[in-house]
Amino acid sequence: MRILVTGGLGFIGSHLLRRLLREPDVTVANMDVLTYAGNLANVADIASNPRYQWHRVSVTDDATVDAILREGRFDAVIHLAAESHVDRSIEGGRIFVETNVLGTEILLEAARRHGVGRFVQVSTDEVYGSLGAEGFFTEESPLQPNSPYSASKAAGDLLALAAHRTYGQNVVVTRCSNNYGPYQFPEKVIPLWITNGLEGKPWPIYGDGEHVRDWIYVEDHVEGLWLALTRGQAGQVYNIGSRNQKTNKEVAHALMELLGLPPCVLVPVADRLGHDRRYAIDPTKAERELGFRPRYEWAEALRLTVQWYQTHREWWTSIKSGAYREFYGRHYGSLGPELHGR
Ligand code: NAD
Ligand code: DAU
Repeated sequence: MRILVTGGLGFIGSHLLRRLLREPDVTVANMDVLTYAGNLANVADIASNPRYQWHRVSVTDDATVDAILREGRFDAVIHLAAESHVDRSIEGGRIFVETNVLGTEILLEAARRHGVGRFVQVSTDEVYGSLGAEGFFTEESPLQPNSPYSASKAAGDLLALAAHRTYGQNVVVTRCSNNYGPYQFPEKVIPLWITNGLEGKPWPIYGDGEHVRDWIYVEDHVEGLWLALTRGQAGQVYNIGSRNQKTNKEVAHALMELLGLPPCVLVPVADRLGHDRRYAIDPTKAERELGFRPRYEWAEALRLTVQWYQTHREWWTSIKSGAYREFYGRHYGSLGPELHGR
């Protein structure tokens, strides 16, 4: 199977590439323009695999996207490339609209023109908005996004589903809860707190810290994506989650214990604007129809995550110091679309 992954140099995308390459008959092309969130170090272990190639291309570059899909004759596209951080979207939503909305439409159109067999739109539970104290998000929950990020993801989902209804395009949408694990960019709360802890810095916690997220280990998410690709029904949405709700304070205390830090590391700061109170995914449909079963248990997977940041200091210190951005700017800034690692 020939698969095009977008956003494969990011956190989840890099885990997905490794998962896909475990299938002996799969070849993978990775379309990633390498924004601040992408990192070649995330795929260093697979870069020379002859079944892998990298195209440094933006999903918004219409002509180049078209050429890659024409030449690639892909059986499937798994679309992860996105601006992914809520706080950045609060500072300004335009790049979110460009990448997450326009980029999705450009890919959908190219996939349609070139007869791609399946398009997996990788989305988020944030499109459903915020829950009160009770209840879960199901695939039938209304879309009520509250941040520019989640609104742009919801727009991408709707374009994908509309392409199925209008043109019969073979589209599947997945909506996953909060991921954690190795290679997550340290602007997201779990790696931010772990790395701040390792640097002796405080942990900012927004508002009262009672906001709830539903955490899933990244390896479980990418397994869900493989199942959605291979077993999902065209036109369907699948929620992916691990039934693992935690308040932010609970996450902080679990991490303090693993790192041997006192509660005084937590420093309350001003709340995020429009901060969603609670997310909770009902993954019953994915369990029933795709056979999805998360394998990682929270305490153990969080321990593995902390251990990874403890043993990969260079990876995150270079990000936090900005050195990696200068490095890639110098070395790759002037290059156009290219293949990497062949
Ligand atoms: P990330 O920010 O770590 O990585 C995003 C990747 O996309 C980077 O490699 C970046 O270079 C690339 N990219 C950005 N703009 C691009 C463009 N215009 N053209 C090509 N490449 C571009 O993101 P992530 O956390 O790995 O999330 C991946 C996807 O999964 C996103 O679509 C996100 O909405 C979704 N998702 C994330 C989570 C989560 O908890 N992180 C949960 C559910 C869904
Ligand atoms: O639910 C899936 C979503 O999870 C994905 O779609 C997003 O791409 C991903 O970034 C994530 O969004 P969140 O906003 O939930 O993740 P973040 O790590 O930014 O924040 C998690 C919680 O921690 C949230 O309630 C805000 C809080 N927080 C965050 C930061 C960065 C803090 O208290 N302090 C912080 O410094």
